[in-house]
Amino acid sequence: MARIALITGGMGGLGTAICKTLAKSGHIVVTTYSGNEEKCKSFLTKTQAEGFKFHAYKCDVANFESCTEMVAKIKQDIGCVDVLVNNAGITRDGQLKKMSQEAWQAVIDTNLTSLFNMTKQVLDDMLESGFGRIINISSINGQKGQFGQVNYSAAKAGVHGFTMALAQEVARKGITVNTIAPGYLATDMVMAVSEEIRNKIIAGIPVGRLGSPEEIAALVDYVASDYAAFMTGSEIAINGGQHMM
Ligand code: CAA
Repeated sequence: MARIALITGGMGGLGTAICKTLAKSGHIVVTTYSGNEEKCKSFLTKTQAEGFKFHAYKCDVANFESCTEMVAKIKQDIGCVDVLVNNAGITRDGQLKKMSQEAWQAVIDTNLTSLFNMTKQVLDDMLESGFGRIINISSINGQKGQFGQVNYSAAKAGVHGFTMALAQEVARKGITVNTIAPGYLATDMVMAVSEEIRNKIIAGIPVGRLGSPEEIAALVDYVASDYAAFMTGSEIAINGGQHMM
């Protein structure tokens, strides 16, 4: 039976690539949008024309009740989630001396607290079925820190703490929990960085270019597969050599 994969933030650059790749490998793909109905409609129309049949649900991943309601609807409409990809994320860049409390909290809530909010909704069913894949999308900047991103770097470093702890709790139950830490990709999020700074960043990437979302999505697909059953609690860097650990 096809597995159900829930990818948060599937309408962004990386999220869309993950949705498409997991669909191609036979998953039933469900994704979330934060409230922009127009964006959701055009995403569904465009991807349908490309031959995909995605399910989309409105959800604020930073809000526990919103996640509870959404996963209840998914269970009713489609079934229990087998693969959860915690991908939704935002940036509110700026040096700490200029950062507002709102910019701190929004990034922590959306990029880190969302892991608790979402995973709590699906874990019991995974435990019951004896299979689960929880894949948390972190960032190179959670591993090395980044000027102008104390909020984002803190949240993304926290993501892997969550992964390592939960991986131990569920390791004997057929559930793996892993972190994927992409580097700089050719997505809107990175394109929002000024061209001058972006060019400096690219100059520091040994392979000499930004990554593509598809390169990350292929790794997500592997981690979601049966082949990756022995991989848990890992943090896999995929960053063009920009940060080697
Ligand atoms: N190291 C040290 N100093 C730096 C620096 C760096 N990397 N970058 C900038 N500076 C310095 C400048 O030289 C300048 O110094 P002076 O004032 O002495 O001239 C100062 O910082 C710039 O100050 P500004 O007032 O112009 O900067 P700001 O506080 O308004 O914000 C910033 C700057 C928006 C954070 C900008 O530096 C920036 O965009 N940086 C890149 C942040 C980044 O990489 N974001 C990643 C987004 S994509 C993503 O997050 C996805 C992912 O996972 C990879």
